[in-house]
Amino acid sequence: MRTQVCIVGGGPSGLLVGQLLHRAGIDTIVLERRSRAHVLARIRAGVLEDGLCDLLRRAGVGDRMDREGFRHTGTVLAAAGREFRIDFQALTGRSVMVYGQTEVTHDLYAARDEAGGTTLHEIDDVAIEGVDTAAPAVTFRQNGAARRIACDFVAGCDGFHGVSRRTIPRAVRREYERVYPFGWLGVLSETPPVNDELIYANHERGFALCSMRHENLSRYYVQVPLDDSVAGWPDSRFWDELRARLPARIAEALVTGPSVEKSIAPLRSFIAEPMRWGRLFLAGDAAHIVPPTGAKGLNLAASDIHYLSEALIAHYAGDGDGLLDNYSDRALARVWKASRFSWSLTTLMHRFPDQGAFGQRMQEAELNWLEHSTAAQTALAENYVGLPY
Ligand code: APR
Ligand code: PHB
Repeated sequence: MRTQVCIVGGGPSGLLVGQLLHRAGIDTIVLERRSRAHVLARIRAGVLEDGLCDLLRRAGVGDRMDREGFRHTGTVLAAAGREFRIDFQALTGRSVMVYGQTEVTHDLYAARDEAGGTTLHEIDDVAIEGVDTAAPAVTFRQNGAARRIACDFVAGCDGFHGVSRRTIPRAVRREYERVYPFGWLGVLSETPPVNDELIYANHERGFALCSMRHENLSRYYVQVPLDDSVAGWPDSRFWDELRARLPARIAEALVTGPSVEKSIAPLRSFIAEPMRWGRLFLAGDAAHIVPPTGAKGLNLAASDIHYLSEALIAHYAGDGDGLLDNYSDRALARVWKASRFSWSLTTLMHRFPDQGAFGQRMQEAELNWLEHSTAAQTALAENYVGLPY
């Protein structure tokens, strides 16, 4: 088999770059380890920056998002029993779109089907070779048969546990990581959201987040110890703990119901440099992971894909390889800034086992400053709605 760009990974990053390249007449093949059903069953954050919304529209997959998504012009922070709103629109002139990542992935798969794009699912033993030559290739097994795709370029969109990043020689790769000493227990419930905007709560019992997917599908999280397990959290305990971490007005308004999904996820910050090695280009979770606090995971994948698709389209248009050559530096510049924001908001809103009395007072002082300072709120809002591409 042969294609122009072989895309390893059929999550949002792989599908989005595939769709943008297809619309520019560039041939791709997507290789996805899991079944489509498995990929579409993943529950992930759904806060979309305008940059991502524009990219989806350019890719021809923005219609359902524009119909069914919710525009949020601000968010609520809660601490010490008080709550205050940060007005993104007033402070930055911009807002965010709330539309589940599962829906984004579903729309991207539907678009790829319509475009007749080749997507191979449930493949094994993917290996990327020859990226330091002009003739790279991707080998893999499908139904036990060894197969090989020759290509011009490889887009490594296979997430944190994929093979792409590890294809870059260890002696060349620089990795930066912070593993947080807690996780998030998340619940999806078919109940009306407690508030029409998201609520991030700092509480002495731990962080809590109130989010949503639509008017009758709510998404809630509470911070839990790393060694905690879902088995120890019957719905009743979850709802009691969530209420305990929210200001009274909000706790009283909470509508509870049976969980339709419940899971615990660890939190980490991770960045690998460089994001390019020869004809291999990493994008999305393959190159970086952010704690979900700032809802930047999908939005960082989007800016990577914006830069990468622009560079590949320029190459095939005969406009040279300048954008390919500065892809890694350009993508990493935004990745580091969004990672700083995600780390900073995580540090502000969570209880750390070792933070001590001084660390506790630092959180309280920063939250108090944030509550009363337009400059502080503008800084948070600018990062939350998305830094420029
Ligand atoms: N070969 C082929 N596919 C693979 C391999 C492999 N060796 N390893 C992993 N994959 C697939 C995974 O099954 C997954 O579907 O690559 C895909 C990577 O998708 P994501 O992990 O969702 O990463 P990405 O597409 O970059 O999207 C980033 O997803 O994880 C969230 O919070 C993250 O919102 C962010 C978004
Ligand atoms: C979610 O809706 O799952 C969500 C929203 C915002 C976040 C994290 C998760 O910061």
